[in-house]
Amino acid sequence: MLDHLTVVSHPLVQHKLTLMRERDTSTASFRKLLREISLLLAYEVTRELPMTTKRIETPLEAMDAPAIDGKKLALVSILRAGNGLLDGILELVPAARVGFVGLYRDPETLQPVQYYCKLPDRLEERLSIVVDPMLATGNSSVAAVDLLKKSGATNIRFLCLLAAPEGIARMKEAHPDVPIVTAAVDSHLNEHGYIVPGLGDAGDRMFGTK
Ligand code: URA
Repeated sequence: MLDHLTVVSHPLVQHKLTLMRERDTSTASFRKLLREISLLLAYEVTRELPMTTKRIETPLEAMDAPAIDGKKLALVSILRAGNGLLDGILELVPAARVGFVGLYRDPETLQPVQYYCKLPDRLEERLSIVVDPMLATGNSSVAAVDLLKKSGATNIRFLCLLAAPEGIARMKEAHPDVPIVTAAVDSHLNEHGYIVPGLGDAGDRMFGTK
């Protein structure tokens, strides 16, 4: 069982995150770094998956070799920034099913408003990994996990790049059964709901919008 919060302190992750935070990092570099970091985070969030063995033949002899047990993973991206993390993870687990939850933050209330939801079937049989680079207020994350649970998911993990203490607390209160994996926990949220020091708007930085 993963802890409720795992901070991935690996030097490669921390170094790449520093480059991503820098204001002058270009969109192209930001995207490339996000892809690289998502591979490393995927490694952590898929830790402790149930394992089995399968009988295989090596060129020398037969053996019972380790293999991941159970149904395929479901990756669920919170649009739109979640897609930046999704691509890298799919490289490692190309057979995973993929869902999308469209939520935007009302700029006044900071509350999530749902505009899209398409989830894989048989979520009750899968491990679902919800991805969103920024765990800020936690409102979108809690809403996305609510949707998954309503659709039958019982085994859920949350993967992000940066988390604010406020978002972690909100998730822990609403979904104590959902472990969070992140590269860093920052200081606080500002009055606009941005993570400080953070990296700015993750979606804008990865897609080159303003
Ligand atoms: N979403 C972002 O993209 N950045 C933040 O700092 C908070 C939420």
